[in-house]
Amino acid sequence: MSHFRPVDLKHASRLLNHGPTVLITSRDPLSQKRNVMAAAWSTPVEFAPPRVAIVIDKSAWTRELIEASGAFGICIPTAASADLTYAVGSVSGREEDKFSRFSIPYRDSQTLSVPLLEEGCSAWLECRLLPEVGAQQKYDTLFGEVISASADERIFNRGRWLFDSADPTLFTLHHLGGGGFVSAGRIITAKPL
Ligand SMILES: Cc1cc2nc3c(=O)[nH]c(=O)nc-3n(C[C@H](O)[C@H](O)[C@H](O)COP(=O)(O)O)c2cc1C
Repeated sequence: MSHFRPVDLKHASRLLNHGPTVLITSRDPLSQKRNVMAAAWSTPVEFAPPRVAIVIDKSAWTRELIEASGAFGICIPTAASADLTYAVGSVSGREEDKFSRFSIPYRDSQTLSVPLLEEGCSAWLECRLLPEVGAQQKYDTLFGEVISASADERIFNRGRWLFDSADPTLFTLHHLGGGGFVSAGRIITAKPL
């Protein structure tokens, strides 16, 4: 984690703009049990204040924990963590603690105490749930305000992903379905026509 640096919140949307598969972390406010699951469906929805939306099915334990605690973490896994991403998206934390089962090192976030993975991620966002009961019930969509963000400066620096120059094992993952992923590729910078 020595390469992690705070990300200016005005750049938080850039962490999710390109649609990486993410890991959603959460904690039971009563038992303090922790959890992590994979999510392919997340997006920024506002620049300032920085807000995001994630789609979490009612069957996921994560959904219950976020609605009970009012908080969640978003960790962006690296290409080297494809197996772990698929694994935590294939079993429920209701049955077994995934942090122990998959030997995942983590720390608690400073403000909301959501778990943040200490290995295999390029960025973290700490989010406070913005309760929208209708959207949650009807569309399984949860909105959150990003209250802090950090990223590995070797792959995200000054609001930009460094896919042209960084180590490809640090690239983001994008789910195709069925456990297949592509990793982020060549940057194309649009020029004025
Ligand atoms: C790559 C990948 C992406 C996934 N994306 C989502 C998603 O966007 N939303 C969702 O509700 N479930 C998604 N899942 C399924 C959950 O991760 C899965 O149901 C998980 O076991 C829930 O864990 P939990 O019960 O511990 O919360 C995905 C699974 C994988 C492997």
